[in-house]
Amino acid sequence: MELLDALRSTGAVRAFTDEPVSDAALHAVLDTARFAPSGGNRQPWKVAVVRDLDARREMAALMREVWEEYVGANATGVTAFAFGRSIDAPPIAAPNPLLDAIDTVPVVLAIAADLDSIAMMDGNLDRPPVTGGASIYPFCWSILLAAREHGLGGVLTTFLSRREPTIADRLALPHHHALVATIFLGHPVHQNTKLKRHAVGDFTTIDRFDGSPFHA
Ligand SMILES: Cc1cc2nc3c(=O)[nH]c(=O)nc-3n(C[C@H](O)[C@H](O)[C@H](O)COP(=O)(O)O)c2cc1C
Repeated sequence: MELLDALRSTGAVRAFTDEPVSDAALHAVLDTARFAPSGGNRQPWKVAVVRDLDARREMAALMREVWEEYVGANATGVTAFAFGRSIDAPPIAAPNPLLDAIDTVPVVLAIAADLDSIAMMDGNLDRPPVTGGASIYPFCWSILLAAREHGLGGVLTTFLSRREPTIADRLALPHHHALVATIFLGHPVHQNTKLKRHAVGDFTTIDRFDGSPFHA
């Protein structure tokens, strides 16, 4: 694929055909994604290709709990799980076909990040640090972009991260690592390429964040 096409048209895919993903294709995807940048080039990622059905089902059950908490919190009109806002809304049972299909999703990847290898540049501030994620999520995004070249689609999810302590033993999450994402991959039933995103002028300003909008 052309780079710009891939960057502009890689929408989330949560439904997959029965066509398997070969180990060679998955290896090739990871072999491209490993060129992602990271702070100090420390490449803090570890990947578990989760095939074991019991593990997948346990993951899905936990993700479903979080999904229903998320739907319940979103129903109140606030961003679910936003830092510093308590979620006192009850969970709402809601369908999640991706989780229903956990046994047959072609590829389930658990992604961990080595916290000892991440320089948390904003870790000294009186707010949640976010810069550390920048050493791992470019790698995750590169997996999704590289997958397109192989006719694959997928979605990066973080709902399992909310249950990291519960799933840690099952996945043998190494000491001092964070479970940063679960990525699902496969041949898309449908690849959404018409993505809804804000226009440049909506989020880009000149000189200051309250400056005039930047236009070409
Ligand atoms: C950091 C991050 C966390 C996400 N977590 C989840 C998740 O837990 N579950 C899920 O179904 N999708 C998750 N997504 C996928 C987003 O919902 C998706 O990228 C976004 O809604 C845009 O969808 P689109 O590409 O179809 O337009 C996540 C995406 C990102 C980048």
